[in-house]
Amino acid sequence: MTSKPLTLIVFIMCFVLPVMAEQPVYLDLNKPIEDRVEDALSRMTLEEKVAMIHAQSKFSSPGVPRLGIPENWATDGPHGIRQEVAWDEWYGAGWTNDSCMAFPALTCLAATWNPEMSALYGKSIGEEARYRNKNILLGPGVNIYRTPLNGRNFEYMGEDPFLASKMVVPYIREVQKNGVAACVKHFALNNQEKYRDHVNVVVDDRALNEIYLPAFKAAVQEGGAWAIMGAYNKYKGEHCCHNKYLLNDILKRDWGFDGVVISDWGGTHDTNEAIYNGLDMEFGTWTDGLKEGLSDAYSQYYLATPYLDKLKSGEVGMSELDDKVRRILRLVFRTNMSKDRHFGSFVSDEHALACRQIAEEGIVLLKNDNHILPIDGGKVKKLLVVGENGVHSMTIGGGSSSLKVKYEVSPLQGIINRAKQSGIEVMFEMGYASPAVAAQDMKGAVAPEKKFDLDELRDKAVKAAAGADMVLFIGGLNKNAGQDCEGNDREGLGLPYGQDKLISELAAANPNVAVVILSGNAVGMPWIDDVSAIIEAWYNGSEAGNALASVLFGDVSPSGKLPFTFPKRLDDVPAHKLGEYPGDGSDVVYKESIFVGYRWVDKEGIEPLFPFGHGLSYTTFEYGKLVADKDEMSVSDEITFKISVKNVGDRVGKEVVQLYISDKKSSLPRPVKELKGFQKITLMPGEEKQVTFTVGKNELSFYDDNKEAWIAEPGVFEALVGSSSAEIKGRVVFSVK
Ligand code: BGC
Repeated sequence: MTSKPLTLIVFIMCFVLPVMAEQPVYLDLNKPIEDRVEDALSRMTLEEKVAMIHAQSKFSSPGVPRLGIPENWATDGPHGIRQEVAWDEWYGAGWTNDSCMAFPALTCLAATWNPEMSALYGKSIGEEARYRNKNILLGPGVNIYRTPLNGRNFEYMGEDPFLASKMVVPYIREVQKNGVAACVKHFALNNQEKYRDHVNVVVDDRALNEIYLPAFKAAVQEGGAWAIMGAYNKYKGEHCCHNKYLLNDILKRDWGFDGVVISDWGGTHDTNEAIYNGLDMEFGTWTDGLKEGLSDAYSQYYLATPYLDKLKSGEVGMSELDDKVRRILRLVFRTNMSKDRHFGSFVSDEHALACRQIAEEGIVLLKNDNHILPIDGGKVKKLLVVGENGVHSMTIGGGSSSLKVKYEVSPLQGIINRAKQSGIEVMFEMGYASPAVAAQDMKGAVAPEKKFDLDELRDKAVKAAAGADMVLFIGGLNKNAGQDCEGNDREGLGLPYGQDKLISELAAANPNVAVVILSGNAVGMPWIDDVSAIIEAWYNGSEAGNALASVLFGDVSPSGKLPFTFPKRLDDVPAHKLGEYPGDGSDVVYKESIFVGYRWVDKEGIEPLFPFGHGLSYTTFEYGKLVADKDEMSVSDEITFKISVKNVGDRVGKEVVQLYISDKKSSLPRPVKELKGFQKITLMPGEEKQVTFTVGKNELSFYDDNKEAWIAEPGVFEALVGSSSAEIKGRVVFSVK
């Protein structure tokens, strides 16, 4: 009889070790990813490699079934997990378990000026993507806000590269902790929807490096993004989805990006360019242009049979293909085949809370005369809510970010729920209306026809206004084509559907009018002086109404700050002033160079409607004196600034303390000042905190296009700290040797 230990040893030698030895390296989740990649690559056939680099359906690409390597499944992004669509269609597949949580739009996230909110957002949406078995989230977007007409600004993070960089990084890191790749979009220079599939952006190297690239660079180098999406437009005459300069030289060589470049849907136009100019994966190509073509045309994609034929005939070599496949395998091993992958969660209470918190922190109080807000139950007994946006769904429409949601609390519903607690009676009038948008739920879904008479709606609302203690107008833009919607730009800065007239008449009928704008863009406000309060409340997703109500009724003191300038007129925006929007159909020239947003406003001495960084609170913050730890530094040194901020009001509040740096004299023109630091602090009534900013070479540098390098020049600088780009509370001059 053999002893027990001996039996165990024989068992291990006969059965366990051979199995372990046979396990291929690529399946060993504990092996380094690069070893797994090389091992898997070495086992793949030519056909399997080519299959992997292009789509097989609207949102998926093949894995290697023979090797047990799973498919890739992408999802929009960036505000929630898109419904399941039919295999080769945009419309819904009719599932009943894919209704998601809608998170606030990215403009709202940017308006929180709080990287912790960004982390919370990334964590929550990453969990939703993971739960739905997606391994690529098509977002976030960080294209810079160049014109308020851009139909997709609501999907981006504003006009400032520093703010967008700081906000995008935590989002990506937290999404990816779920084993889901963030696919940052749209790289690069996709700053308008008009002519987006062919317009060639002409921009100087300074603006490219100082304004349009930094958030992408931060996403890659600090956020560690595993994927990036090429833009539809062209740069240097080449489509961005296969653009040698952007993808091979900048992204992959200079920034060391080791992830996957994914084409925008239908953004690929040429096999050779796609092979050689840095594209790794082709999605959504119609065979006959961007919008229509043959169905199930996947085998005809530029990176499908046409590429395979070239490989087989020896016209092109294997190295580019292997590089693409390596990147995709790396992404698969980081996501679907990672041992650290959790299971995710979907439409949970935690996610609802996250939505609400982000929305509450992003809502911006623009104006509040006579402290009309928060709504005081002691004075207001009858509250009239006017405006279609009070009840209109803002999660449907807008293009690819359109969502099928589990629920969406409308502003009106949120207000009614909250008003009850204060014993306030709420009445509602539409006041205006817009044409309905079709949800993409079903094949052939048709928008129900809505007939309305604007004069009648307005008259009814104005009459009701006369009998109310307060009027809350809820309007702005919506997700209809030509508003905040992919595929088109807006036609002007003004509010649509007769809202300007309606607001003016409401203000004439009632002295207490507060206006709530829902939008992802700046809007004109010809009635600004006639109303007492104005709030920018973005598109805030599932918890929109609850978040708005908590701000309106003062449960939360507003603390959002504008991530872009609100101009008084289009002519105050350089792209429009200089006649460089939308371009001539072939080129659009960014003549304003680095002077985008507040950089232009400062340079030209323009008074905006509301400046970048602006946002009021229900409490009052008092700033102390700004002090520096030295008045002279060397370029390699650092300088520290301190300022104390005190809450001198009687309610808790959050303030965003903003640091701008001004280079007094330089060899190249520089903006009057640039955002180089910000901190959001919470202060109890009477509480005081000290805020510290450290500035080094990075914060002092500019991109010298002659030297093709970032340089910090010696000279005199000034640090400015304020509560917005226009409300500067303290200044300190320092010199750099
Ligand atoms: C958009 C992308 C989106 C993709 C897939 C494109 O039209 O530009 O942002 O991710 O569609 O829906």
